[in-house]
Amino acid sequence: MAAAQAPGAVGTPATPATAAAPGTVPAGVQNPQRAWQNWTLNCQGCHRPDGTGSDGTAPSLAGTVSKFLTVPGGREYLGRVPGVATSPFSNADLAELMNWMFWRFDKEHMPADFVPFTAEELGRLRTQPLRLEASQMRAALLQKAESAGVVAE
Ligand code: HEC
Repeated sequence: MAAAQAPGAVGTPATPATAAAPGTVPAGVQNPQRAWQNWTLNCQGCHRPDGTGSDGTAPSLAGTVSKFLTVPGGREYLGRVPGVATSPFSNADLAELMNWMFWRFDKEHMPADFVPFTAEELGRLRTQPLRLEASQMRAALLQKAESAGVVAE
């Protein structure tokens, strides 16, 4: 896995998703390297290595995903969205991956009082995976985030 060695500047679009820069460990992440590897194994096929998504397959998480943390119901949505809820990971690994994902792909929208996901919380949410209602719920939440003035700065 050659890309695993690429140090890469975090946040540069041309750079593949990498683990945290040396010395930085995001809240709720024990092992950024493991989180990133889990991302490459199970998520980037749809969301792409840099989280920008692919038309018709998966939305962009880059610059967007943390907005869900800012609206009521958003946290639940994130834990129940099918790609997350039905992923093959243990609750602990999934929590780590999620916490890493916000930090890696949308640090700018992370709320200042962000509380990292825990294994317990995800274990609870993922027992109720969303199905067809996911896209409707997604649109409503994003609209709420926009009207609450959560914009990129
Ligand atoms: C088969 C393609 C696919 C895979 C694999 C996949 N996703 Fe997704 N993901 C989607 C789609 C499509 C949506 C939009 C909601 C929906 O309709 O399910 C989504 C939505 C999301 C969201 C909610 C944010 C938003 O903008 O709606 C998060 C967070 C997310 N995915 C993370 C992950 C993670 C983490 C993994 C790996 C464990 C993963 N996804 C794997 C297709 C995928």
